[in-house]
Amino acid sequence: MKLFDVYPLYDVTPTKAKGIEVWDDKGEKYLDFYGGHAVISIGHTHPHYVKRIKEQLDNIAFYSNSVQNPLQKELAEKLGRLSGCEDYDLFMCNSGAEANENALKMASFHTGKSKVIAFTNSFHGRTSAAVAATDNPNINAPINKQQEVTFLALNDFDTFEKTIQSNEYCAVIIEAIQGVGGLDEPTTEFFQFIAKKCKEHQVVLIADEVQSGYGRSGRFFAFQHHLDTERSRSVQPDIISIAKGMGNGFPVGGILIHNSFKPSYGLLGTTFGGNHLACTASLAVLEVLEKENLITNAAELGVYFREKASEITEIKNIKGRGLMIGLEFDFEVAPLRKRMIVEQHMFTGSAKNKKLLRFLPALNITKKDIDLFFDGLKKVV
Ligand SMILES: Cc1ncc(COP(=O)(O)O)c(C=O)c1O
Repeated sequence: MKLFDVYPLYDVTPTKAKGIEVWDDKGEKYLDFYGGHAVISIGHTHPHYVKRIKEQLDNIAFYSNSVQNPLQKELAEKLGRLSGCEDYDLFMCNSGAEANENALKMASFHTGKSKVIAFTNSFHGRTSAAVAATDNPNINAPINKQQEVTFLALNDFDTFEKTIQSNEYCAVIIEAIQGVGGLDEPTTEFFQFIAKKCKEHQVVLIADEVQSGYGRSGRFFAFQHHLDTERSRSVQPDIISIAKGMGNGFPVGGILIHNSFKPSYGLLGTTFGGNHLACTASLAVLEVLEKENLITNAAELGVYFREKASEITEIKNIKGRGLMIGLEFDFEVAPLRKRMIVEQHMFTGSAKNKKLLRFLPALNITKKDIDLFFDGLKKVV
């Protein structure tokens, strides 16, 4: 059997990794400034993470959601505390798409409605409702197109207000910082406006923090950049979806559901979601984030990165926050990315915006690592 050929691959075969360093099968070293699509949050093979998973594997790796699993409760408690989202309940699943699928399903159950508002250039995953809410017709099959999704431009107050007034919508789904789309974000005024309008019209507000969450933006969640001390103005999503950095490579996802939503047996479910290994990987990530102060590091190094980026005249625009950054050039970056890998041995990312180079490293990188990145970038630019 051969592989179903859906990925254009670089000719690199990683066999070992540590921190941001990755070695291929020939022993060549690479620097990972992309974290495998923003997944590596605490660095490859972090010793605490490896130890925790190995120990868990020796005890029990999996049992289904029909028995008590104290690790899930421990994770929910720690996640609530570190994220400042103690008013939410946790439901665990296995990926970002599945998280959004469950979020949209909850919204539909809750309101009895089925239409969704999403935004231009959004990316929410590749399954049923999640892909329908993704602004990319090429990855929506006819079966997905049955979902009714209205795409609106970010920061267009009038159109948003007119659309939500129809009272036909179950959910608004938004990335606080767009990932795949190219690092655009709502203004604070717009985010607060949609939060207010969702409340007014009883529409469920879903913050997709699959990529921007877990400290990447310099706050635990990226929507938290838009909070306000005045409660009526602040942004409080009903549901927050998480994945990617949550497991540092272990496939795990989840949704935080505001505790005003009442659960009932069978409403949501999964075989693998919340298994013992997934919980342990997720706990290890949170323990490292907390102990090593990685969210502060992401915020501080984001500032340092911007300073360095602003010295390069070929960079026309710097987008994003913390260590979720896009560098916009006035040319398409595909050849530049290739040269970064082949000549400089550095992994970077692309976006739907073809002129944007994405920088999504582990949150424990150092200023020295950033200097190395710019040394490499300057050579190829
Ligand atoms: C914001 C956002 N939501 C959802 C997803 C889908 O996650 P997954 O690939 O784990 O299904 C992604 C993946 O890139 C994403 O960036």
